[in-house]
Amino acid sequence: PKTVWFEEYDIYQQHGSWYLAALIESTLTTQQLFQARDDDIIIATPPKAGTTWLKSLIPSIVNCPKDGDDVPDPLVKNNPHMVVRTLEISCFNRNQNPDLSTMPSPRIFHTHLPYNALPDSIKNSQCKIVYMARNPKDAFVSLWHFTNRTRTSFQGPYPIEKAFESFCNGSHPFGPYLDHVLDYWNESLIVPEKILFLTYEEMKRNPKQEVGKLASFVGKSLANDGELDNVLWRSSFDRLKNLEVNKTGSEPHTGLAYNSFFRLGTIGDWKNYFTPEMQQRLNQIANLKFEGSGLDLDI
Ligand code: A3P
Repeated sequence: PKTVWFEEYDIYQQHGSWYLAALIESTLTTQQLFQARDDDIIIATPPKAGTTWLKSLIPSIVNCPKDGDDVPDPLVKNNPHMVVRTLEISCFNRNQNPDLSTMPSPRIFHTHLPYNALPDSIKNSQCKIVYMARNPKDAFVSLWHFTNRTRTSFQGPYPIEKAFESFCNGSHPFGPYLDHVLDYWNESLIVPEKILFLTYEEMKRNPKQEVGKLASFVGKSLANDGELDNVLWRSSFDRLKNLEVNKTGSEPHTGLAYNSFFRLGTIGDWKNYFTPEMQQRLNQIANLKFEGSGLDLDI
């Protein structure tokens, strides 16, 4: 089936998930051509759950300068989305088949694809997957703001009620959100050595603990507090938001201004938008979906 997201975008449903029509071909190409290596690190996220953050954290961990080293920070001159490419958006776009074999290990890629749509080579190789989930209410508000950025001032913001309806019934890009999260969560319980499941909220509350966990998962234990602090500083919201590249640049593949990836960076902004009815509805759907799974997203 086909429907529209924010009136402007066609989205299509395939095997229970929704994809932007504009990404159908690049998704297929990714699935057919991407060859994962055993030492790859794959970031996986639903939209607006902390992609930009993980795209900053993981390169900062992997390139963390040891005492006395002068390791350049790629984030100074490049938006995180150019430092770590999204397979189905900026690697295999427009049917390109880029030569990724010359990239030095560990290669880091990102995908928004749901677990069941991942290329086989990601599932079957020894590569690691780092997933980040976020409270669905905050993810929804973030997504609503983000997609509003592509509307003209004449159009004004898309009615939040309509966007919420799509979010609740799952018909939004890479949706349904809750299934995206639950599928990776369940897989992470089966193969915890392959999939690390993180949440935006826990990363905010206990950044040192979570970055320590993330670093050892990708095999780069940080030696001391100084290194940990350095990683957190390099990937911090305030620093990245204020870097010249992120204030002025835009994504070559989508035309999106880089500053649209840095809005508030907080927990609980949903409280400024949700009516009691919206709250009740999403609570009900999420509680039903996650019942018995052991997953806690602070709903
Ligand atoms: P808000 O819209 O709630 O502010 P994604 O990167 O998956 O597109 O998600 C974007 C959300 O992550 C936005 O949330 C954005 O502000 C927030 N974000 C971006 N960079 C961040 C960082 N370095 N630390 C924390 N949050 C960040």
